[in-house]
Amino acid sequence: MIQVHELGKRFGDVKAVDGVSFTVAAGEIFGLLGPNGAGKTTTISILATLLPPDSGRASVCGLDVTTDGEAIRRRIGVVPQEMALYEELTAEQNLDVFGRLYGLKGDQLKRRVAELLELSELTEHARRPVKGFSGGMKRRLNIMMGLVHAPDVLFLDEPTVGIDAQARTRILDLIRGMNEQGLTVLYTTHYLEEAEQLCDRIGVIDHGRLAALGDKEQLIHEIGESDAVRLLLATDRHADLAADAARWPGVSWAGFRRGKFEIQCDDGAPVVARLQTWLTEDGLELDQLEVIRPNLESLYLKITGRALRE
Ligand SMILES: Nc1ncnc2c1ncn2[C@@H]1O[C@H](COP(=O)(O)OP(=O)(O)OP(=O)(O)O)[C@@H](O)[C@H]1O
Ligand SMILES: [Mg+2]
Repeated sequence: MIQVHELGKRFGDVKAVDGVSFTVAAGEIFGLLGPNGAGKTTTISILATLLPPDSGRASVCGLDVTTDGEAIRRRIGVVPQEMALYEELTAEQNLDVFGRLYGLKGDQLKRRVAELLELSELTEHARRPVKGFSGGMKRRLNIMMGLVHAPDVLFLDEPTVGIDAQARTRILDLIRGMNEQGLTVLYTTHYLEEAEQLCDRIGVIDHGRLAALGDKEQLIHEIGESDAVRLLLATDRHADLAADAARWPGVSWAGFRRGKFEIQCDDGAPVVARLQTWLTEDGLELDQLEVIRPNLESLYLKITGRALRE
């Protein structure tokens, strides 16, 4: 659905996009993850034919971004980072105006507007001016504006910035639902947990370059970090446990680290089971227990040497 090959774009001395290549298959949610200024919006703008590339090639729905702009724009929806809503108009009127821009009219337009209000759970607020909406409601409406003409591909540029966790969950559910109906999604974010929850494949972009690309699970696996079972025993038998646990299958190390007793292992689940048996045999109890898995945060740190949110 999307093919990007050695794409480049400069602004003066700044290489905003610097030799980026990736593909997105039909029906996929692809996450472009990176900090401020990484080149996410520039990449989306090129794919949405809003900016011409300086070098490289890109196609969307099999159409070339430099020559088939008009055809591409009919097949894609774009949800910009900055919200583009008419504050004085109602939710319904906003969708209506956008629908007309795309050539919808009459019953077809009415049906589509009603559908989108329903989808975004804004039906009961349809006749209220947007200026009275919460940030989450505005974000949901902003996404619907990109969908009026039923595109095959949707570009979402940081659609959850500035809203609370609950509103964010609703938006992620909404995107997942649309994807299940067949929509291909390119999603940019600097929230790791969003990329981790939502995306099938991920590209990590930094200073205009892709620092990592692949299947989410595969990327996490490539970090090469193992699971860790962290615990504290109710009675201090940690030395005994360290001696024993070091011989359990799949365990690479056991001992104290950062104030907690830790068992490093390939897979946390069988180690927790083994731990339960060990505790029961000696009639011991746990004070605390948690299993830590490597995640995209550790991946990002490893790749770029800094945290995403500095
Ligand atoms: N129109 C422009 N003129 C000059 N420089 C620009 C322009 N647009 C982007 N840049 C620069 O290009 C680089 C990439 O910007 P871009 O907006 O693509 O990043 P981003 O990943 O979307 O960041 P953010 O998370 O802040 O939205 C930045 O250094 C930015 O300052
Ligand atoms: Mg941006």
